[in-house]
Amino acid sequence: MRILIIGSGGREHALAWTLKNAEALYIAPGNPGTQGLGHNLPLDPSDHHGIVSFARDEKIDLVVVGPEQPLANGLADALDQGGIACFGPTAAAAEIESSKSFAKALMQRNHIPTAEWRSFESDQYEEAKIYAEQLGPCVVKASGLAAGKGAIMCEHSSEAEKALRELLIDGNLGDAGKEVVIEEWMTGEEASLFILTDGDDYLLLDSAQDHKRVFDNDQGPNTGGMGAYAPAPVMTQQLIETTCSTVIEPVLQSMASEGRLYKGCLYAGLMITDEGPKVVEFNCRFGDPEAQVVLPLMDGDPMEMLLCAATGGIGNLRYSAQSKSAACVVLASGGYPGDYPKGKVITGLKEASEVSGSLIFHAGTSTDGNSVFTNGGRVLGVTAIGSTLQDALHRAYQAADIIEFEGKHYRRDIGHRALHRE
Ligand code: AMP
Ligand code: GLY
Repeated sequence: MRILIIGSGGREHALAWTLKNAEALYIAPGNPGTQGLGHNLPLDPSDHHGIVSFARDEKIDLVVVGPEQPLANGLADALDQGGIACFGPTAAAAEIESSKSFAKALMQRNHIPTAEWRSFESDQYEEAKIYAEQLGPCVVKASGLAAGKGAIMCEHSSEAEKALRELLIDGNLGDAGKEVVIEEWMTGEEASLFILTDGDDYLLLDSAQDHKRVFDNDQGPNTGGMGAYAPAPVMTQQLIETTCSTVIEPVLQSMASEGRLYKGCLYAGLMITDEGPKVVEFNCRFGDPEAQVVLPLMDGDPMEMLLCAATGGIGNLRYSAQSKSAACVVLASGGYPGDYPKGKVITGLKEASEVSGSLIFHAGTSTDGNSVFTNGGRVLGVTAIGSTLQDALHRAYQAADIIEFEGKHYRRDIGHRALHRE
């Protein structure tokens, strides 16, 4: 199969690693880690015309879109129109992530368990303030895509007022925050569930747990994710079954019946509350760094699974996860998630890759052909597979400790909730 992957982060490196046996593999634009697995292309994910033309000229069988923004912008629609199979939903189906108010209304229509909520537009600041005050502790969210910066946790009404002012009046997040969703603050442990779907049937992949806060013990501001592991023991078989019947299946049925057939990966972000699993958010793509732990655990033929998700027939496939665990420790630039410098030389990559079971996924790196440099906030996803979570974590930290660059910081407690459970 001839495959083109769109994106340039750790998730896309993990996708390239998973699909490395393709007859031809291209990554647009890719990163220094994907270059050895396939060919990086200087194509921008927003250049739909260029991507469709390349796919046609190179007889690409499947385009796999990593990030949400190109999907929200209609890249899958452009590929569909060009007659090219695409793993990833159309813009209308991607609204499940790109519009939180759409996702919440969909959940409400289908009685899918989620936090109590209401949405408000720019001219409803006063009403929004009153609703937030009624809720007490709440979360104020930009309805649109905000690159992980759109959810503001508000313990007190003064914080909600500030957040609402910043989004609705000052326009701090631009169009993404012109509409807000205010929701009840849920308590519990978070976990994510990933499925591959052709819109009718689905394959359930492993569950995972992300670590959003920048510092140990879940301190400091939210990030794109500082580490992950899979499977997540908090997602017991019973909780997985409940989530499939109360969340996943009603979403797929509803999307299909509303003319928004959902194809690709559906990511359900969950809060395991005392009342059962409730949806925190949906994403229309693999999580990052979660992809770096979920994809390496895939058994069977991932190429066939992704192609069937794009073109149909996924109901004929079976998925059985490996009975192993994977852990990923993100190495970040000094200052992330705030401002950070770039261009710091990275050492120890080769030695770290020699740690048994390790997989070093590049995210924000660059190269001059000789050395590798930092080039983003999240620099590397140091991943390892092990027979148990403890084993995977041990290997991942062993590799993470070998890699050095000025300002490197990372969480020391990835997996702490699962280890406590054991
Ligand atoms: P989101 O952008 O919706 O994924 O939210 C980002 C993060 O904020 C989530 O992973 C949670 O940690 C937290 N969060 C979002 N919504 C809620 C909620 N209703 N209750 C508690 N925490 C939440
Ligand atoms: N790690 C969270 C996400 O990919 O949305």
